[in-house]
Amino acid sequence: MGAEVIHWPVQAIRAAVAASLPGFTVEVLPEIDSTNTELMRRARAGQMAPVLLVAEQQTAGRGRLGRQWQSQVGASLTFSLGLPLAPPDWSGLSLAVGVSVAESLHPDVRLKWPNDLWLSDARGERKLAGILIETASFGELRYAVIGVGLNIRSRDALGLSTPPAWLQELLPGVDAPQALARVVAPLVQTLRAFEALGFAPFQARFNARDVLRDREVSVSDGQGGETRGSAHGVSETGALLVHTKAGMQPIISSEVSVRPLH
Ligand code: BTN
Repeated sequence: MGAEVIHWPVQAIRAAVAASLPGFTVEVLPEIDSTNTELMRRARAGQMAPVLLVAEQQTAGRGRLGRQWQSQVGASLTFSLGLPLAPPDWSGLSLAVGVSVAESLHPDVRLKWPNDLWLSDARGERKLAGILIETASFGELRYAVIGVGLNIRSRDALGLSTPPAWLQELLPGVDAPQALARVVAPLVQTLRAFEALGFAPFQARFNARDVLRDREVSVSDGQGGETRGSAHGVSETGALLVHTKAGMQPIISSEVSVRPLH
């Protein structure tokens, strides 16, 4: 039996985005190691025009903190948006991207600092999507690659640190192309707004979906260090505000991981 043919809304996405991102192209690959890795390779080779790269399968998908991102054909949406970006302040970019993707998908999608999309329901708290942002400077230009991995339908949870949720739980019957069509144009608008205004317009929108808010959390630095406290939303620059024994601490490092204690 041949592989399932997936119909991607390439023309519709290109048409929706072209006006705000001149030169924008959309490309779908059946397989690649990682869409983030590929766009960074292309940028190093001088290809820095705005592009959406979708992979039906990744063989070496990457997550934050050096983790792997596993996906199965048809069960996940994996894509990266690469573009030159010039915000005056980069703080909070990954949070703004999370806000945009969550708002495009469903009112019940929650955010877990810094950039995970979670579902929180009777089945517990589970990860729906992850975001990996990488940037590189080439002379005056800074190129950003915004990678999103979104679970679409139920998959096996082997080897995952957080149990998975999937979009079809909220939107029965939705498929990866439909999910892509929902998120890309608003994401481009978000990046334009972030370039002009920074994280401030996204602060309240993040806090409205913040899964950690008013909860006891543990903050790990990945080297055995742990701080405990209660989470109080994010600041106007996107720092997670954790009230510890030493007072209110803004957590800014992308190297830390935070988990709710109860
Ligand atoms: C995380 O949860 O730590 C982030 C996961 C990001 C996964 C996406 S899938 C598309 C893009 N390509 C990658 O290799 N990673 C991102």
